[in-house]
Amino acid sequence: MAAAESKNGERAVCPHCGGYGLVVAPDGSVSKCACGLWDEEQYRVAVERARIPARFRSKRLATFKVGKSDAARREIRRFAESYAKTFRPTEEKGLVLRGGTGSGKTHIATGILHEVLARGYSGLYVNVSNLMARLQHSYDPESAERQEDILAEIERAELLVFDDLGAESAKDWIRDRIYLIVNNRYESCRPILVTTNCDDAELAARNGDRVVSRLHEMCAVLTFPDEDYRFLEMR
Ligand SMILES: Nc1ncnc2c1ncn2[C@@H]1O[C@H](COP(=O)(O)OP(=O)(O)O)[C@@H](O)[C@H]1O
Ligand SMILES: [Mg+2]
Ligand SMILES: [Zn+2]
Repeated sequence: MAAAESKNGERAVCPHCGGYGLVVAPDGSVSKCACGLWDEEQYRVAVERARIPARFRSKRLATFKVGKSDAARREIRRFAESYAKTFRPTEEKGLVLRGGTGSGKTHIATGILHEVLARGYSGLYVNVSNLMARLQHSYDPESAERQEDILAEIERAELLVFDDLGAESAKDWIRDRIYLIVNNRYESCRPILVTTNCDDAELAARNGDRVVSRLHEMCAVLTFPDEDYRFLEMR
């Protein structure tokens, strides 16, 4: 890691973290090394690479509001916090966040992503519809992006947020790409966080049974209440 090397080569590489800035405990948990190499700059770069949309850059699990009598959102936030805290990139255990528009799914998904990045893992946010548009555009010979690079970036991410599945247009090639991506995560035992407005029947109709059954194998499902959280705040 570049951060380990001092410019004049005088500083010895940290024996605890090997200059990486992070240490992995025998139970697999990751923490910052006492040498202080893991600094805000590395975190900033990880956030940059994760492509979190501007609207959600400042959203955190801690800023997800829960009204006094709002047991459902309280449980969602608790579950999300514990998921982020115990996240392991080599276990495929992911989440499906399901609920109506505006119920807070993307807030929770990006909130988890932030926590996971802060623990030193890599992650990537993609909106499914935007991703399909990028993939389609990549066929254009003028395009700056190549399809293999887009897919490789997705595969590399230790945590993938796959936002708004079921909102993309229903075309055969799109259905195939989505299956390919979900199945790749499955086969490489890498977790995925899916958000969707659709129930299983709608997802199966749009994306096929194969995608739905893969997601069930890989993911726990969190269902968001449709009531507006701003009302619950007042109760
Ligand atoms: N419980 C909550 N506390 C704070 N902000 C919330 C909460 N639920 C939703 N929001 C905010 O409302 C907006 C819509 O939420 P979003 O996560 O985009 O919903 P969804 O992805 O389910 O459509 C976002 O700006 C989000 O931060
Ligand atoms: Mg959303
Ligand atoms: Zn160190």
